Amino acid sequence: MFLPQLLAKVEKGEKLAALTCYDAGFARLLAGAGVDILLVGDSLGMTVQGHATTLAVTLDDMAYHTEAVARGATEAGAFILADLPFGAYQEGPAQAFASAARLLAAGANMVKLEGGAVMVETVAFLAARGVPVCAHLGLLPQSVNLTGYRAQARENKAAERLLKDALALEAAGARMLVLEAIPARLAAEVTRNLAIPTIGIGAGPDCDGQVLVLHDVLGLTAKPPRFAKDFMQAAGGLEAAIRAYVEAVKHGDFPAPIHGF
Ligand code: KIV
Repeated sequence: MFLPQLLAKVEKGEKLAALTCYDAGFARLLAGAGVDILLVGDSLGMTVQGHATTLAVTLDDMAYHTEAVARGATEAGAFILADLPFGAYQEGPAQAFASAARLLAAGANMVKLEGGAVMVETVAFLAARGVPVCAHLGLLPQSVNLTGYRAQARENKAAERLLKDALALEAAGARMLVLEAIPARLAAEVTRNLAIPTIGIGAGPDCDGQVLVLHDVLGLTAKPPRFAKDFMQAAGGLEAAIRAYVEAVKHGDFPAPIHGF
């Protein structure tokens, strides 16, 4: 699926259901169960490789898993979003373009990068050269050594900065925005102020879509984040769990409203 088809869903008022995905078998299952976006997330550093953070994931790893997901999703034609890993884009636009080109060649439809104002020049460079870019604000897992895994933008000043960053990234050409672990009220405000879709994770129910880590949804994570939900327990089977997640997002039943995060 290409970006215009995905955006058409949002224009119709449909919520986007996204999940992380790292291999061909799950790509087939998730796409077949109606997941709109398969995120080849650098969370694979934790879920697949067993690291404590995403920082060890390489561009080779990302290309390998993106190729596998693209092969698995061919028939259902899901939209594939791939993370640019830590160290593969922070040097500047030229490095970011080379890395993005590798992931697009591997089968991604869009690449995701983390950061606010500091990424504006890179986003503009990529967008002008045919690379669809998803920005990522709030909790930035690649900056975990600075922030820890904690909710972000809870104070007014940080919230104002996040909104400003979101607007700047959109103006630079970002076509989608992931909002992670920020107050629901702020995510709603950002969503109202942007034309591009917002995809929330721990950011309340008012984003244009939701994303979760597959292993959290399937109850495979020892200590899942408190905003996640195990859809496997109630569903009782893999495909039923994925379908339950998609239905809950589409009907606005997940996530439940969060007040004050
Ligand atoms: O890598 C990942 O799983 C992500 C989500 C947390 C959005 O980027």
